[in-house]
Amino acid sequence: MLLKDVPLARKSIDIDKVISVSKRARATLLEVRDRMLEPHPRKTPPVISSTRLMQLLDVDRSRFNYLIQKGEIPNGIIKGSNRGREFLLAVVQDTVRRLVPERLRPPGAPGMTLCVGNFKGGVGKTTLAVALAQGLSLHGHKVCMMDLDPQASTTTLFGKVPEAEVEESETVMPLVYGDVETLAGVPQETYWPGIDLIPSAPYLFGADYFLPSRQADDPSFEFWELLNGAMDPLRDKYDVIIIDTPPTLSYLATAAFMASDGMIVPVPPEALDYASSTMFWGQFAELFASLRDSRKLSKTFDFVKIVLSKVKAKKVKDRMDATDATRSLLQHTYPEFIGRCELPVSDVVSNAAAEFRTLYDLSSYAGSAKAVAAFDAFVEEIELEMLETWKSVQEEVTDGVS
Ligand SMILES: Nc1ncnc2c1ncn2[C@@H]1O[C@H](COP(=O)(O)OP(=O)(O)OP(=O)(O)O)[C@@H](O)[C@H]1O
Ligand SMILES: [Mg+2]
Repeated sequence: MLLKDVPLARKSIDIDKVISVSKRARATLLEVRDRMLEPHPRKTPPVISSTRLMQLLDVDRSRFNYLIQKGEIPNGIIKGSNRGREFLLAVVQDTVRRLVPERLRPPGAPGMTLCVGNFKGGVGKTTLAVALAQGLSLHGHKVCMMDLDPQASTTTLFGKVPEAEVEESETVMPLVYGDVETLAGVPQETYWPGIDLIPSAPYLFGADYFLPSRQADDPSFEFWELLNGAMDPLRDKYDVIIIDTPPTLSYLATAAFMASDGMIVPVPPEALDYASSTMFWGQFAELFASLRDSRKLSKTFDFVKIVLSKVKAKKVKDRMDATDATRSLLQHTYPEFIGRCELPVSDVVSNAAAEFRTLYDLSSYAGSAKAVAAFDAFVEEIELEMLETWKSVQEEVTDGVS
């Protein structure tokens, strides 16, 4: 039999077919998302148990009861037959702010900008960025979350459907086009009190076409400074601005790195992720060196933190496994950057994500204690870096005065 006589088993796929599949995929996603996030409209903030509040305040039960008696902690909502208490998130934040003020931004210090980046996809950037925002907010910090990834996963986790519910004018795109000069007024309230969001949507793909042509048309334009100045009004209003970036060295990601005081790079301890982390630093260093040499750019970070993410549990205790080997390689390569905390791979995190939720969205922490403890420790590690920076800013101010 000649090849031409072989009956065609499959139909060829033309552009119309691709378009119809993409429409079907979008409709299915919208439907699934709606179902997951019911009841309409979308997400509600978690209610916080008294055990969790005690943990956030770092007090034991007897001290906690004493503080309730004294009226320092509100009564909360008494629930169920065992008369346990629950607290609204906004009440928790207010209580933590009042009773643990030493963790707060000192008056006069600017809010910090932290970006989460890695050119490798799927390493846990969005999970970590949103957890950091929610964890810091539980400590009473006022947070602005900026989504710069056109895939808009962060926006989705905040209960918004990027393709259907985000207008271009709500994103950073007007700034990209040069229609506005600042991001004042752009962050919008979310279901989570104390976290405002600058959402993303697929419009942001356009930034990587528009910014290079804007740069070519106007050599005095500095695309890498696009966010830095525009964020100044936000640095007063928020204690921390957290930027989630796409898995590419895009124009917007570069501008985000340039606007940031701290950079957080999640890297799973896997050989291929280690290899791509070296490429990340290579490209990052090359870009910054070329801007320094050609445009006299200068940039310092207050801290850079590599966080081991999606760390698998050991199968055999006391025996070195592939995770240990890559961990030690990472520690050897980046001793000054490696953070203390590790984020374990956790079914609670992935199951929550399957319903467009986060670890901190779950009001019942049953089965999630280990993951919550690891994410809490990470949040505290970053908070310590913020406190260090704020302390040094204050010392500079005091030195300047004396
Ligand atoms: N600690 C974890 N435990 C279990 N699953 C996790 C964990 N961290 C992230 N994931 C899952 O891994 C997948 C990728 O995570 P995430 O979206 O945070 O990565 P990303 O780096 O932002 O990806 P992208 O580059 O596409 O933006 C998601 O399904 C997420 O739920
Ligand atoms: Mg992401």
